[in-house]
Amino acid sequence: MIYLDHAATTPVREEVRAAMAPTLEQTFGNPSSGHAAGRAARALVDEARDRLAGVLNCRPREIVFTGGGSEADNLALRGVMTREGAVGRHLVISAVEHEAVLETARDLSARGFEVSILPVDSSGLVDPADLARALRRDTALVSVMMANNEVGTIQPLAELLELTRSHSDALFHTDATQALGKLSLDMGALGVDLLTISAHKVYGPKGVGALFVRQGTRLDAQITGGGQERTRRSGTENVPGIVGLGMAAMLAERERELEMARLGSLSQRLTQEILRELPEARPTGAEPPRRLPNFCTIAFPGIEGELLLLRLDRAGVLASAGSACASGSQAPSHVMLAMGLSPELAAAHLRLTLGRSTTEDEVDQTAAIVAREVRALRERSPVQGNPLGTKPT
Ligand SMILES: Cc1ncc(COP(=O)(O)O)c(C=O)c1O
Repeated sequence: MIYLDHAATTPVREEVRAAMAPTLEQTFGNPSSGHAAGRAARALVDEARDRLAGVLNCRPREIVFTGGGSEADNLALRGVMTREGAVGRHLVISAVEHEAVLETARDLSARGFEVSILPVDSSGLVDPADLARALRRDTALVSVMMANNEVGTIQPLAELLELTRSHSDALFHTDATQALGKLSLDMGALGVDLLTISAHKVYGPKGVGALFVRQGTRLDAQITGGGQERTRRSGTENVPGIVGLGMAAMLAERERELEMARLGSLSQRLTQEILRELPEARPTGAEPPRRLPNFCTIAFPGIEGELLLLRLDRAGVLASAGSACASGSQAPSHVMLAMGLSPELAAAHLRLTLGRSTTEDEVDQTAAIVAREVRALRERSPVQGNPLGTKPT
């Protein structure tokens, strides 16, 4: 099996599993308990928070552990927009956000908030001039992701943040779920107010993530109860998950530069090999350095992407069309459409995302298998010779 869907999720790595294991047995205490078992669990949560603060170059108290990236996005958007005494009711997001931001913005809009959606160009980039036009005196929050989960495009965050600061009093949130372990997430240098991460994209467990909340940033809790996480997210802490996130993030950051250099050259090789075999294929997204190094995304005119994925799966190559997070949906991806791809081309998209297990040999095998399967589909396809024509039924 060749697993090339690391943007969907990653396996828990050995060091993370080893760190988590004792929390399921010996260190089972409730961190809120005052006795020895509780104190031991609290110490592990504190240690994980310190580790993550080291990765993000922030204060430990600026980290709120959540039940994943989606929850952190929800906390950022709802927590800021609906906070008591909020000055503005205007929210700005980009057209290529993950559903956790997009659907939350839709829901806020249905509840009377005003939402502006920034367009992107053909490589998925937001134009800062569009943000400058969208900002208003009553803009309360701008949320633009750091790197996209379908094509890996990296947004010009520094410019977008600077504009936000100079044109408004809005807070700035970024969804860095795909960026953790790939890009530097130094909160001192980045300057954002809120930032989302998730453990399962960096060889940590599923169902745990965090929201960085810059000191002094006011947001209303979305889960109320026992007042954990300095009252910003109630509920007994997911100690195994939090320990796993702390370890996974620390290791991902430690290995980041070397690993991204390795994956960058492998993904380039993969794209080149596929294009050599299939010159009509169309790489999507932005060119490096505006693209995450582990992403290889490509559209095959005239091919039904779902059929290609099935054939690749049968041949042992596990990939995806765009985002796995909205799996089951047959509608063309909002990201592809926002980038101006036709619905046909959007449906002919392949996302190959590389990770720690990826080797040069796997890359070469994958290129050969993709070329073989695309050709096989073309031969069967009634649209042969008319690559942008209607989809085969
Ligand atoms: C950009 C982005 N944001 C948010 C999420 C949601 O994170 P989680 O699966 O931890 O809820 C994902 C992927 O799942 C993602 O890729």
